[in-house]
Amino acid sequence: MDLTNLSTQLLLKKSPIFTRLAHTDKVFPNLDYYRQAPAPAASSDFLDAQVEEAEVRRAHYYTMNVAINAAVTWGVANFVLNAVNILNPSKDVLALATVEIELQGMAVGESGVFVWRGKPIFVKHRTPEDIAREAAVPMSELRDAQNDIDRVVDPDWLVCIGICTHLGCVPLAMDNAGEFNGYYCPCHGSHYDGSGRIRKGPAPLNLEVPPYSFMDEKTILIG
Ligand code: FES
Repeated sequence: MDLTNLSTQLLLKKSPIFTRLAHTDKVFPNLDYYRQAPAPAASSDFLDAQVEEAEVRRAHYYTMNVAINAAVTWGVANFVLNAVNILNPSKDVLALATVEIELQGMAVGESGVFVWRGKPIFVKHRTPEDIAREAAVPMSELRDAQNDIDRVVDPDWLVCIGICTHLGCVPLAMDNAGEFNGYYCPCHGSHYDGSGRIRKGPAPLNLEVPPYSFMDEKTILIG
């Protein structure tokens, strides 16, 4: 055995780390008082009650969820409907949007002027000669080419908006005004024919035809 190993062994034997400390004379306090009593084994009734309670709680949450979702959906739908209703025209505005015109008292050859949405409406009870003349106009003669039959619902009746398409004056409507047995705008001299089509003067387009339909033989609804 060499000297180094011998000295190492002597050092280890005398080291206090390897000294056994039994402390057999120590008295430890009794801590049983603080220890939790072991839980009693759960009975099957107890477990059933727990499961039932969990199911009741789940059903309660589900019902609450459905009720809250329904309330939120109803609120959002109500809000959107109200917002859309605000943008819609009111009933009095809607009532003005359409106009009924009685044609009963208007003899053949007569004209009338009515108002729809603040615009003059020209209505003319055309004669058979008027109808034949306007139907025979060649398209090549028209600045804003349009067949007469495409501008009327019933050829006996011409309905158009009485606003000149040049700068917006109201043309003269009575007695087949102008050079083409229709309407004449005195502002700058535009002549429209018996179908409301521009034939002479600075206006670029025919008189506009409003949306209308016959409610019966002698009543039209404009708008
Ligand atoms: S506004 Fe009618 S011709 Fe000018």
